Amino acid sequence: MNFDDKRVIVTGGGSGFGAAIARGFASKGARVMVTDIDVEAAQAVANELDGALAFGLDVTSEDAHSELAEVVVEAWGGIDIVACNAGMPHRGGYMTNLTTEQFDFMWTVNVRPIFFATKYFVPHMPPGSAIVSTASIGGRRPRKGLTPYNASKGAVITLTKGLAVELAPDIRVNCVAPVSAATGFDMSAMGIEKLSENREKMVIDGIPMGRRATPEDVANSVMFLASSEAEFLTGVCLDVDGGRSIG
Ligand SMILES: NC(=O)c1ccc[n+]([C@@H]2O[C@H](COP(=O)([O-])OP(=O)(O)OC[C@H]3O[C@@H](n4cnc5c(N)ncnc54)[C@H](O)[C@@H]3O)[C@@H](O)[C@H]2O)c1
Repeated sequence: MNFDDKRVIVTGGGSGFGAAIARGFASKGARVMVTDIDVEAAQAVANELDGALAFGLDVTSEDAHSELAEVVVEAWGGIDIVACNAGMPHRGGYMTNLTTEQFDFMWTVNVRPIFFATKYFVPHMPPGSAIVSTASIGGRRPRKGLTPYNASKGAVITLTKGLAVELAPDIRVNCVAPVSAATGFDMSAMGIEKLSENREKMVIDGIPMGRRATPEDVANSVMFLASSEAEFLTGVCLDVDGGRSIG
């Protein structure tokens, strides 16, 4: 895969999958705008990469998307690839335990940002461009305890397919559906740095490939979907799940 001179925006690029996506694109020649609500984390990743810039983007903010579009167009003249990756789970488990605010926030942080990205970035994306969002395998095969989160990721998959039709043939729109990975997500979902050995074993027992996903597994799949090698693929949800969704 070659992304020489491609202009890439990555959201949630300060950590986990987003940092690996930013590093992956940059390693193949792209100019990457690393964005995150945590601007210092975004800056730290950008500092590692040739030609990268950082921007403090809160994906829940419409104004911030509009401002980011202006900044990227001013710097690079347009946008070729957008990785809508930022997203958050909720804590609290079963839906009966959750507040209305927690439920609504899943839509605000996981679904609405794709609308904003479409509205503010697509006008600057030339034919041949690509959008790749980070959904979740829970959006296709939900399990108990993260129901509103999983439903929001199901919406990401449906938005991807609908948008793929609306933007074809100029812009391809795809998403990845990762299985559990040891990123900042564990802290966001459970308030723990690392799964206990027992819990990790339970997770891995459900994954035929015998391990959790790595940020690089996800980044490689995002890059493939954004690459010219995938030029006929649009509306695809690629499971990056080591086979978890088969059984
Ligand atoms: N790790 C997993 O098990 C897993 C599995 C499937 C899908 N996902 C999805 O992958 C994506 C990336 O998560 P991760 O696993 O890398 O977690 P992570 O916590 O390591 O990274 C998430 C990043 O998003 C940033 N962020 C949080 N709220 C934001 C906001 N409002 N605006 C902009 N940035 C914000 C955080 O600062 C952080 O840098 C998310 O969409 C998540 O739902 C994660």
